[in-house]
Amino acid sequence: MRDLSTLPKVELHLHLEGTLEPETVLELARRNKVELPYADLEDLRGRYEFTDLQSFLDLIYANLTVLQTEEDFSDLVTAYVARAAAGGVRHVEAFFDPQPHVARGIPLQRVLDGLASGIASAERDHGTTVELIACFHRDRSEEEALAMLAALEEAGAPIIGIGLDSAEVGNPPAKFQRVYARAGELGLHRVAHAGEEGGAASVTEALDLLHIERVDHGIQAIDDPALMDRLARAGTPLTMCPLSNVRLRCVDTLADHPLPAFLEAGVLVTVNSDDPAYFGGYADTNYEALRATFGFSDEVMARLARNSVTASFLPEGRKTELLSEIDAWIAT
Ligand code: HPA
Ligand code: ZN
Repeated sequence: MRDLSTLPKVELHLHLEGTLEPETVLELARRNKVELPYADLEDLRGRYEFTDLQSFLDLIYANLTVLQTEEDFSDLVTAYVARAAAGGVRHVEAFFDPQPHVARGIPLQRVLDGLASGIASAERDHGTTVELIACFHRDRSEEEALAMLAALEEAGAPIIGIGLDSAEVGNPPAKFQRVYARAGELGLHRVAHAGEEGGAASVTEALDLLHIERVDHGIQAIDDPALMDRLARAGTPLTMCPLSNVRLRCVDTLADHPLPAFLEAGVLVTVNSDDPAYFGGYADTNYEALRATFGFSDEVMARLARNSVTASFLPEGRKTELLSEIDAWIAT
């Protein structure tokens, strides 16, 4: 069995705010004099037990208030990329959520400048490239998302696309049709979380009404055979996050995860980490957990890594380079 931390891979479902490790939360709270309701590290760690998506969202939104300065946002990126690169991640299409930062008084430009400076130094130090996707919170209004998209455009934000995250149930894709239409006019890539908790219909709706190019999670598509067929035929990528699905109780155990069934059905599935500081592992750890649970061969692991390259928004030339790095990994 080959070392999966050396398998070249692309991370396509990663929330930068979800990479804040508990130690860093407390360190930044001290540095920035932010009051948090935790007695100590042990108390904070004890809260990483989730019953569903919302119970996790409550914690991540409370913790991201420690991000205050440009340097904080820069450090967030560099710390994450250092860890990801050690696990074989060669390129990241990372989510960040501008709305909660701006809502608590952080200027958008500060967030963007911090992320951009972190990306530049991470690329220099590790050779891992990072592109940004701005995610809108689906439990906030479409008007607010439209205003944020306009603000991002006005700021010349270095983003390649938009996404949709936060509470899925009760906030269907249809709510954001105008935002996605506008993003299309701006030439941005479009992805959305769907079928994590919202059912297979949420995936179909996101494809039909938001014209998304990739589905984030999408695991509940398994309940709709016609949709499975559609995803396979169209080659629509799914960015799955197995350890996240276990921790948020979308599946009972990893052995119950539908990823093997998607592979069997010929769907372009990829393996990602979602919010690694909260769900017990970065990309390589998710790959390892799948191998340990399903006994996947090195060939299957390489196929998953190739899928991550194919599913990315990288230019063809860089895709070809990364695919040959994966060929070299399997050949040795
Ligand atoms: N789902 C919805 N919202 C999120 C997630 C997720 O997996 N991670 C961070 N915000
Ligand atoms: Zn996510």
